[in-house]
Formats: sequence, structure tokens, C-alpha cells
Amino acid sequence: DKGTYPFYMLKEVDEQPVVMRKLVQEYLDDEGIPKIDPKLLAQMKAADRLYIVGAGTSYHAGLIGARLFERLTGISTQVFISSEFAYEQPIMAAKPFFIFLTQSGETADSREVLVNVKKQGWPSLTITNVPKSTLSREASFTLLLHAGPEISVASTKAYTAQVAFQAILAKALGMAMNKENAANFDIKQQLGLVAIGMQAIVDSKDELESIASRYLSQPRNAFYIGRGIDWSVALESALKLKEISYVQAEGFASGELKHGTIALIEDKTPVIGIITQDRTANLTRSNLQEVVSRGASVLTIASKHLSQPDDTIVLPDVDPLLSPLLSVVPAQLLAYYTSLGKGLDVDKPRNLAKSVTVQ
Ligand code: M6R
Repeated sequence: DKGTYPFYMLKEVDEQPVVMRKLVQEYLDDEGIPKIDPKLLAQMKAADRLYIVGAGTSYHAGLIGARLFERLTGISTQVFISSEFAYEQPIMAAKPFFIFLTQSGETADSREVLVNVKKQGWPSLTITNVPKSTLSREASFTLLLHAGPEISVASTKAYTAQVAFQAILAKALGMAMNKENAANFDIKQQLGLVAIGMQAIVDSKDELESIASRYLSQPRNAFYIGRGIDWSVALESALKLKEISYVQAEGFASGELKHGTIALIEDKTPVIGIITQDRTANLTRSNLQEVVSRGASVLTIASKHLSQPDDTIVLPDVDPLLSPLLSVVPAQLLAYYTSLGKGLDVDKPRNLAKSVTVQ
């Protein structure tokens, strides 16, 4: 039931702070130590490479997860689009471990990979929001996102739950491997800060609605840009915008602009820069300067400690590895209000189904 909300998507965006707290409650003890099945951790620890597999938004969550696993465990981690991996298996590590990210647990492309993985005798974990779903039943291990039902076709709270859960799992695995980085990563405190930060962003809806109507309601094209983890969020942000508002939106690695994409910039093309990482903030800002001088309408989503007076949206500071949990929220709301302003059916965009059960 969507209660007083006009669309499920808005309700689900608003639920994200609660989802963060629920994950803390389900998966962390009072000291903030993850409560994860030791048998699962033992199998993951034995792997020489982690393979994360997903489609759409789940694939985008995997892009963040790979960084979390590499940083906190030191295990090399690769991310694959399920429909690609299914038909072109790369040369494999000696001891792979597979992580399937799927909100619904029913995505046919992801299931195809799991079936092949099982045939080859490799261990797997499904991270899903739907208990008893197909992929949850078929993997060696299953863990639930506890995000509550996600009805809107556009995935929002499942993405942030997938990212936050992977951080918890990466910490658990890193601790099982005696990694100092993992022991020092105060995930409980950080997810608390994330929940507070998300609340501040969802409380600024009026501002996001007016930004959407001013900059995104007219143009046919829009670009999100960023580097590293911000680029991964740019991909997800662009998917949200195209999926529900039908703006041709793309996410680009900002360093790639001058290798081709910048030719697309016209007068008033919206370009939204995501800036949350110390090492790349200035580089992305200079890429934004390059598009400004070609007439683009530039907007910024920047972490507080890197912000400048004319930034459009300023995010509260959290651990930089968890910044996607905040930077994606304004992008979700910009997509929502752009769709709403066009009078579209936000929850049921054309040509799309909530779970894609054909390959
Ligand atoms: O249920 P899944 O996570 O396996 O679904 C994967 C994609 O179909 C899904 O994330 C899709 O991209 C969303 N509609 C995006 O908002």
C-alpha cells in the first residue's frame, strides 16, 4: 500500500534511511561486528577471485561492491553484466566465488549464469530482497536485503540496500582474513551517518523538484559524469533518469569526455557532475569547466568537505567508500520529479517489467 504517496517510487526513496537501520539491526551486533554465517565466510576466504554478477541496477550496485571487497579484503573482484557473462565466460580464476545480486531473485539472465556456475561446481551466494525466490533457492548460500517489497519498476531502496549489505559482507570477510582495513572500518557508525544523511536529502524534495523542472524537463539528452566510484553512481543515476523520464541520459567517466563524448554537448545540455572523492574532485571539476565553456548547464552533487559555494547539491560527509549511498539519492529524486513533471506513470515506465524473466 502506498498510503498517501502518489507513487511507490517516492515511498521507496523515502524508506532508505529505515532500510539502512534495518540492515544494521539484522547483520551487526552491538559492537558493530557483522553476524555472517562462518561457513559462507570460509568459502569466500578460500577464493582467489570474487565474481559479482547482476543486471541493470543490480550490476551498478556490484560496481560499488567490487571496490568494497577489494579494499576491505584484498581479494581481486570482477563485476559482470549477467547477460554478457552467460554467453561469453572469461578465462576463470582457479578458485572463483560467485555473488549474485538480484532484487527480485528471478532475473532470467542472472539465473542462466547461476545454472552454469553450479554445473561447473563453483560456490555461490545470492543477495536478494525476495525470500524463496528462484536464485535464492538455487545458490549455495542466500542472504536477504530486508528492504521490504519494492513495487516501483525503478529500483531505489534495493540499490542502496545492496551497496550497504556488500559493505557489511566485505567487512565480515576482511575481518575473517585479519585485515586491518576491515577491522578499522566502523560500518555501524557509518551506516548511522548514512541514514541521517539520506534523511536530510529526502527532506529537500522541494529543491530537487525545482532543479528537475528547471534543468531536466525540456532537454532530450542529459549526462552524469564522475570518476571511479562516482562514475559507477553516474551510470545508475543515468539509468534512473532514462528509465522513468525518457530523457536520453548517459553516465560517463569524466576523463573520457574529451575522447569523444564532448561532441554531444550543445547549448543548455544538462551535465551533472558527481564529486565525492578527494583524489579526483579537482579533475572532475576541470572536466565540468570544459563543458561549461561549450554551453552546457552544469549541476553538481558534491560531498560537503569537497564542496564549493556554487554547488547545486551538497551531501553530508560519510566514509568515501560509502558515498554512493548518498550521492545516488538526489539522482533518484531528480529522475522522479522529471518523470512526474512530464505527467508520466512513474512506477510503470513504458516497455518495462519489474522482473525480467526472459533472456
Ligand atoms: O531483480 P533484479 O535486481 O535482478 O533486476 C535487475 C534489473 O532488471 C533491474 O535492476 C532494473 O535495471 C531496474 N528496473 C532498474 O531500475
